Amino acid sequence: MTLTLNFINTLDIIFAFLGLLLLKSLLQRRRRHNSLPPGPKGLPFVGNILDMPSEKEWLTFARWGEQWGDISSVTVLGQTLIILNSARIAMEMLDKKSSIYSDRPTLQMGGELVGWKNTLVLLPYGDRFRRFRRLFHKSIGSNALMQQYLPSEELETRRFLRRVLNKPEDLATHVRKTAGAIILRISHGYETRENNDPFVELADTATEQFSLSTAPGGFMIDLVPALRHVPSWFPGAGFKKIAASWSATLVEMVEQPHNFVKQQMAAGIAPISFTSSLLETKPLTDEDEFDIKWSSASLYSGGADTAVSAIYSFFLAMALHPEVVKKAQAEIDAVVGNDRLPDFSDREQLPYVNALAKEVLRWNSVTPTAVPHRVTQDDIHEGYFIPKGSLVIVNLWKLTHDYRVYPDPERFDPERFIPSAGGVAQPDPREICFGFGRRTCPGSYLADASVFISCAMSLAVFDISKCVENGVVIEPVHENTTGTISHPKPFKCSIKPRSQKAISLIQAD
Ligand code: HEM
Repeated sequence: MTLTLNFINTLDIIFAFLGLLLLKSLLQRRRRHNSLPPGPKGLPFVGNILDMPSEKEWLTFARWGEQWGDISSVTVLGQTLIILNSARIAMEMLDKKSSIYSDRPTLQMGGELVGWKNTLVLLPYGDRFRRFRRLFHKSIGSNALMQQYLPSEELETRRFLRRVLNKPEDLATHVRKTAGAIILRISHGYETRENNDPFVELADTATEQFSLSTAPGGFMIDLVPALRHVPSWFPGAGFKKIAASWSATLVEMVEQPHNFVKQQMAAGIAPISFTSSLLETKPLTDEDEFDIKWSSASLYSGGADTAVSAIYSFFLAMALHPEVVKKAQAEIDAVVGNDRLPDFSDREQLPYVNALAKEVLRWNSVTPTAVPHRVTQDDIHEGYFIPKGSLVIVNLWKLTHDYRVYPDPERFDPERFIPSAGGVAQPDPREICFGFGRRTCPGSYLADASVFISCAMSLAVFDISKCVENGVVIEPVHENTTGTISHPKPFKCSIKPRSQKAISLIQAD
């Protein structure tokens, strides 16, 4: 009896093994039958290197979408890039299969050597990533949580109005200063100085070095990772000295505001902030403190420059569309009146201004090609083979300028979000412009609040229009810079207070 059982077991195992071999060979055959998504034909060895655009890659990617379909691919020096030109596919891939589509690429210079891999945007998918996301989620992960920070938004936006009133020609500088000031208040409860603020300067230097160190093609080591083993004294290893210096800036940007909060807490005068509320959770391990420090710094690196692009583009849109300015001002005047500035409590009563803020996020793509998601496992999607290690790039610009979803996409038109009699509103761009899946922007509620309050307060007190110089109207052009975070190129516009009353409101404490 025992013998028979053993015999049957052995046979079972052999058959199971043969079955597995068969399955494996079938799967491999299936994989061979599933090819990569279509795309331009590349060259031997280097692949599609010559097809890659050097600027405004979203336009080329959109063209590939027209030619090859909403999912296409190219391979550059062995690296597969999957390009998505549709929200439906992005959701099905990055949301529904998020457990294998949520890693980030390894960037040798910026990420590994300089150390930006410790900030959320480049953090590899894993335990630390999940902890950072939890910290973001429990601090600024909903409109309800954002309530505690809305007074900071209002206060810094008032300061912004004052700066614009005094020097309208320096709009771009004021927008940048305000975005940094809002983030530092929320991340560390820190009130920035009007001029030469040490934390703002440090953060600006570090974020500029981030752009330089992560620019594609900026450093050889990103193409030849083995160069990291070269000693720093070796001829040609100058990148190592640069990395060490930039890494020191980054560490200071992380440490200095963190220590400031700890000193304030010890003195019992720390205002509520992302860092102070997390530091209050006791007891904290060294790892907890590392997470708090670096996730708080991730707020600045993720939030400051993005908000700058959105708010600067709002002024451009207003200069180009006087009819929108008039309509929004009429709504604000009717709901808020002229005796006070609008605030967040007015938001529900301002449907047109809300639609305008949505249109700002749609019309100007802040992150036109988002941030690549790295695939951690082979996959078959819509019949195409998606190899492990591929980078998935969602063409957010195309998604928010898709004429099938947003007719006449280049036109700035808030009405598209207001359902007309018998008609439905076009889809909310906030479902798209903050990305997809587990890496979706964790600062979206903060970004949304910043854009709304900037639009509402600015329109309440300023007339924004085209500049007239020597009797000639200067026509602003809507053109964007190339980069992960894309900005409207500098433009001129006229910003004038609407009335004496508006001046008093801006100047009031
Ligand atoms: C208009 C403003 C903003 C836009 C359009 C925007 C858009 C995005 C997009 C598209 C991503 C990549 C999502 C993906 O990989 O699928 C992202 C990631 C991120 N954003 Fe934002 N963002 C904005 C503002 C902010 C703000 C205000 C903060 C911080 C307070 C922030 C923090 C981050 C961080 C930390 C990440 C990385 C998330 C991760 O890798 O897990 N962003 N954002």
